[in-house]
Amino acid sequence: LVVNASEGLGRPIPNTLFGLFFEEINHAGTGGLWAELVNNRGFEAGGQNAPSNINPWSVIGDESSLLVSTDRSSCFERNKIALRMEALCDSEGPKECPSGGVGIYNPGFWGMNIEKGKTYKVVMYVRSLGSIDISVSLASSNGSQLLTTTNIIVDASKVSKWKKMEVLLEAKETNSNSRLQLTTTRKGVIWFDQVSLMPLDTYKGHGFRKDLVEMLAKLQPRFVRFPGGCFVEGEWLRNAFRWKETVGPWEERPGHFGDVWKYWTDDGLGYFEFLQLAEDLGAFPIWVFNNGISHNDEVDPSKIQPFVQEALDGIEFAIGDTNSKWGSVRASMGHPEPFDLRYVAVGNEDCWKKNYRGNYLKFYDAIKNAYPDIKIISNCDGSSQKLDHPADMYDFHVYTSADKMFSMAHQFDGTSRDPDGPKAFVSEYAVTGKDAGSGSLLAALAEAGFLIGLERNSDVVEMASYAPLLVNTNDRRWMPDAIVFDSSQLDAIVFDSSQLYGTPSFWMQQFFAASSGATVLDTNLKTNSPNSVIASAVTWQNSEDNTNHLRIKIVNFGSSPVKLKISVDGLASNSINLSGSSKTVLTSTGSSKTVLTSSNVMDENSFNEPKKVVPIQSGLGITGENLDFVL
Ligand code: AHR
Repeated sequence: LVVNASEGLGRPIPNTLFGLFFEEINHAGTGGLWAELVNNRGFEAGGQNAPSNINPWSVIGDESSLLVSTDRSSCFERNKIALRMEALCDSEGPKECPSGGVGIYNPGFWGMNIEKGKTYKVVMYVRSLGSIDISVSLASSNGSQLLTTTNIIVDASKVSKWKKMEVLLEAKETNSNSRLQLTTTRKGVIWFDQVSLMPLDTYKGHGFRKDLVEMLAKLQPRFVRFPGGCFVEGEWLRNAFRWKETVGPWEERPGHFGDVWKYWTDDGLGYFEFLQLAEDLGAFPIWVFNNGISHNDEVDPSKIQPFVQEALDGIEFAIGDTNSKWGSVRASMGHPEPFDLRYVAVGNEDCWKKNYRGNYLKFYDAIKNAYPDIKIISNCDGSSQKLDHPADMYDFHVYTSADKMFSMAHQFDGTSRDPDGPKAFVSEYAVTGKDAGSGSLLAALAEAGFLIGLERNSDVVEMASYAPLLVNTNDRRWMPDAIVFDSSQLDAIVFDSSQLYGTPSFWMQQFFAASSGATVLDTNLKTNSPNSVIASAVTWQNSEDNTNHLRIKIVNFGSSPVKLKISVDGLASNSINLSGSSKTVLTSTGSSKTVLTSSNVMDENSFNEPKKVVPIQSGLGITGENLDFVL
């Protein structure tokens, strides 16, 4: 392999090449990235008609001591359901309450992970006909062990109308399968609504689970596409993600049932929070909005105007000044500065739908008219033929076998180089099926080959992101995924904790993190296995210390070892150690090799073996003009 590092021969890679696609799938956000521990905090998941079920809330006590139901008495207009709890017992008799009292508990998302010494904040809305005496506690899954408890006693006059209450709880013990309990030993009726429990310590104080965001940050993402693919569409439009329902005070958000991935979300992780997440990661937000098309129903272009207005309002929310209608809502949520929204995608995977083009053009014209600088992404693939409509970028999605993925390193070799043409956004890619299992080395190798192809074609490919990003192990709707976690929340990434790990595809992506904004060099690979070995080389300058870096990536996708001799031509004499010759001498000083491999290509990481397939870094240990090694 000869790498040509002569000045002027390389080509700049877009700053945005590698980023993230976050979808609310697999409980990635609800019960995942969003650190809310209460599941169904507003009692809305059972529907808007009372009586309704309160799953997964449950009752402490039996029917002789407690009656629990729902009604529509909430103080929140868009989510009227509240829980009504009537204690029939009283510690002062005549019918005494069982020890510990009667009440309700919430098990969170497959158990709450409560950690000793950590502080948790409970916020809830309460109303009563008399005075109240409630215990707010964190307990083990069957309630037998109390991790912490606080009593709230409030006079009747203060709770005759809905009252917001906040309590801080410091856990005295650790238990990864805990529950939140609200109990009383006093006879009477109490209504509860919007009961939230969150750790005080979240990523940048913005409500995100710290360990998961730190994992995302490891990939140095340049963009975050959100809030999903199918999640944006919905099986039916009535269940699609609609941004206006997800902003403003969290208590007022109605929440919705995501009917594609089949679970309820309180929408604590809403449009604002997605924009915030991107900002916190130093990445551009890419908002995918519903274009009036779901999996099963479509709005006709003649009736699409309300959706167009909704998209325009969403852009105004993100970047409008604080005097604008929606910019002022953003400011009221604590972010007067505009977010750096530069890209929007019109729908997801809808190119083949009857109304796509008709609707798309309405969105395109209206957005370009109001916001000429916003880049618009179409769902139609322009990699092999010209689009029949205007766009700044087009989505390209691929889920396929390992062989096919590896061969797709050449997918964009023949794409039109028209400088005014739209660029590709490979917004979802992954090896799936039996080659991938739940995240194999084989899948990661094939994807690495594909990404090398994207680097080389980054004059026409602007962005790429793996999918799906996250999976809560308790709700695997889609396999594989880049990061696997359970419901536990950790202070920082602890790979041996068996609570969080990256699949080989996660670690593979880390190899490419430095490529965004780097320079891709010319490489000449001569091998007997041209169909199973692929390589690329990039250079970049670290802006903090002005050091120059060269990274060569090679994938051997074949089943036999490959002997390689690597040399680098044309490096400037001051960039790394040189002999007196025109060839660069590769030295072990400051140089390293990082290898992702395993004894079997189908090896995977798991909670038991989170580091089975992870990159291993070591010194090159070789000095000379050529670097020889076996891949
Ligand atoms: O990534 C999972 C799903 O795959 C996305 O929701 C959709 O866009 C694609 O079909």
